[in-house]
Amino acid sequence: MIELKGKHVHKSVPAEPGITVLKLALKHDVDWGHLCTRGTCCRCRCFVAAGMEHLAPPTVVELDALDPEELEEGYRLGCQAVVTGEGPMSVANKTYF
Ligand code: FES
Repeated sequence: MIELKGKHVHKSVPAEPGITVLKLALKHDVDWGHLCTRGTCCRCRCFVAAGMEHLAPPTVVELDALDPEELEEGYRLGCQAVVTGEGPMSVANKTYF
């Protein structure tokens, strides 16, 4: 299971390997910030509190958009981070503004 924390909606949903965190959140009506879906607006930025090992490594787009410190602390872009495992995982949408 993956615990998804949107701005107001928090849900635990079954992991779906192969889709992004953003797609999973939207599929389950979790209010996850997003705009571009291609790694430029950063509104889908999220903090992975647990289960980073169940996500694919950061994409080139994420390496470009996020500071190395953010990546090290556990921040990812929801529209880029692809789920690869069943969890458990806890991910919270953390936009800059
Ligand atoms: S939706 Fe814009 S960076 Fe993810």
